[in-house]
Amino acid sequence: MTAVAATPSTRPTAAPAAGERTIPAAPTASGASRATAVDTSIVGADVHVPLVTGERVTYANFDYAASAPCLSAVREVLDASLPYYASVHRGAGFHSQVSTDAYEQARRSVARFAGARHNDAVVFVRGTTDALNLLARSVPKDCTVVVFAAEHHASLLPWQHRGSRAGQVIRLPLPRSADAAVEAAREALRSSPEGPRLLCVTGASNVTGEIWPIERLTAVAHSAGARIVVDAAQLIPHREVSLSATGADYVAFSGHKLYAPFGAGVLAGRTDWLQAATPYLAGGGATGNVTEDDVRWNDLPARHEAGSPNVLGAVTLAAACDTLAAAGQDALHAREQALLDRLRTGLAAIPGVRDLALWDADHPRVGIVSFVIDGLSSDLVAAALSAEHGIGVRDGLFCAHLLTRHLLPEGHEQAVRASLGLGTTEEHVDRLIGAVAGLAAHGPRWEYRDDNGRVAPLPDPRPAR
Ligand code: ALA
Repeated sequence: MTAVAATPSTRPTAAPAAGERTIPAAPTASGASRATAVDTSIVGADVHVPLVTGERVTYANFDYAASAPCLSAVREVLDASLPYYASVHRGAGFHSQVSTDAYEQARRSVARFAGARHNDAVVFVRGTTDALNLLARSVPKDCTVVVFAAEHHASLLPWQHRGSRAGQVIRLPLPRSADAAVEAAREALRSSPEGPRLLCVTGASNVTGEIWPIERLTAVAHSAGARIVVDAAQLIPHREVSLSATGADYVAFSGHKLYAPFGAGVLAGRTDWLQAATPYLAGGGATGNVTEDDVRWNDLPARHEAGSPNVLGAVTLAAACDTLAAAGQDALHAREQALLDRLRTGLAAIPGVRDLALWDADHPRVGIVSFVIDGLSSDLVAAALSAEHGIGVRDGLFCAHLLTRHLLPEGHEQAVRASLGLGTTEEHVDRLIGAVAGLAAHGPRWEYRDDNGRVAPLPDPRPAR
């Protein structure tokens, strides 16, 4: 079995293994001022978008929680990799060997970023949804899974489709506080059936941005003899999430929310269940030998990486990990928190605007604010923000229907979500606050109609996209 060596906590800069052929690595920090020494700019920061009025403005992207733009450093690594792009673990040619080395180097970078323990597996998958479905197919058949109703569908649903002999899924109601979440998990695990048990919890909500008490939930799970998986899709782009520091058993996250939008994600953690499981994605690469009557599956991580590996997805994901680690996530988080405070303060001052929160207003959050404007539907608000102000938000229920519906004030069926990241500026925040204030006071300045289920400007004089 391949084990991934990682240095927990300090996250040193990636270095190639002896004898490896390498492509240029992501920029790394040096000197005392880590946050400024590393280029954390994003691609497309100065792109202008058309408005219905005929003006053009810089795009104010407030949809990082759905997919974050690409880091410039990631694009540099992509450009440097493309000339060598070739098959991984299958080719004898030089380019295949470079690509194979780059792929395995990427695994080490990701392991380091996730604080993987020396014997943890790091499996490249398509994204968080894929990672959690893989884990759901790998837990022992009789495993009881405890999950909160607050979860994104990616972490709420995979457990329910494990077949007729599967262990129980215990879905806990929405807790009234972080303390209540810890107590509910403790009680559920205490009274759950004997045998393998897994607690599944988000690191940060994709609806409210609220940060869940992972360390305390890990302690609760372990003291009950259970395991825990952290859906870190929304947390890890904003804060360090370390398997070794938290003690969590598994972590799942996506490259496309981590400034590496190239179709790769990660499941990292304990090997035994994954190694015992038959691959849920069967195919080449996962197999050691195939005969007429039998298949011998490979060991980890290849066992769960059937098909040609997404080498560019893995390499760019690793470049994002290296860049964020070198920049120092604490410094990036502090900058984002200042922007988040500015946004929340601005929105709170607008009559008729209400933000969605499960817990107290001062509970720690990542850069996500979901809100409604009384008297306006959220799809109209989102369309007007785009067409009249060049602001991109998401509207809807955010693939977390149970939580979002619970939080919506009376009279609203959907919400608007503004999510921040490395390319967000004070001007973007102020533009959003001003636009929301205008909408709340006067409604949109343009006409809109229903266009196949989406609200669209009428007319829409912007150039065809
Ligand atoms: N999970 C992503 C979101 O929250 C797609 O928008």
